[in-house]
Amino acid sequence: MKFFIDTANLDQIKEAHDMGILDGVTTNPSLMAKEGIKGEEAIMAHYKAICEIVDGPVSAEVISTDFDGIIAEGQILAKIHENIVVKVPMIKEGIKAIKWFTDNGIRTNCTLVFSAGQAILAAKAGATFVSPFIGRIDDSSWDGVDLIEQIVDIYNAQGFMTEVLAASIRNPLHIVRCAEAGADVCTCPLSSILGLLNHPLTDIGLAKFLEDAKSLK
Ligand code: G3P
Repeated sequence: MKFFIDTANLDQIKEAHDMGILDGVTTNPSLMAKEGIKGEEAIMAHYKAICEIVDGPVSAEVISTDFDGIIAEGQILAKIHENIVVKVPMIKEGIKAIKWFTDNGIRTNCTLVFSAGQAILAAKAGATFVSPFIGRIDDSSWDGVDLIEQIVDIYNAQGFMTEVLAASIRNPLHIVRCAEAGADVCTCPLSSILGLLNHPLTDIGLAKFLEDAKSLK
């Protein structure tokens, strides 16, 4: 399973990249706004800066909701850097645009996916990635990981090439369960990635080893 980081924060991207385990980045308009980025020029420069840190897919989301607007925006985003993947919302115009991008060699990430039916449409249109939002599903008292399992099963049964990118990850257990469910990619906040490191027995064991090592000097 590939690890993407779900943030537009350059320091966090660098920290995950420095661990040597980062395969890509996903952003969205909310994450970009959180970094205080304003205006087209600043947005473009920020995506470029992310692409210069991570050599892997970097999802940049369109904010248009009509076909022509999505295509125009997506083409501009795709020209920033070869790592850019155009993130398109799961709406009718978005599906039409994903098909156009697919036919024109531009990679896409279909976002805001909450059902298997939506994931089938994204795959039919040729999306490179499909992003089910598992944390937001959990927030509504369904099990988000169940949806990951269902989409993985459908894609395997049908031979769809679209990669299942588990998004809206809220904790380390989500990452473990998505790996178990066969997700191709998990996009996570840095805190969830770092949470995977934690186990009290590791800390206790290391303290003992270091203490005992003193007698070796
Ligand atoms: O990038 C989309 C997704 O990961 C959003 O997560 O935590 O806002 O539901 P969240």
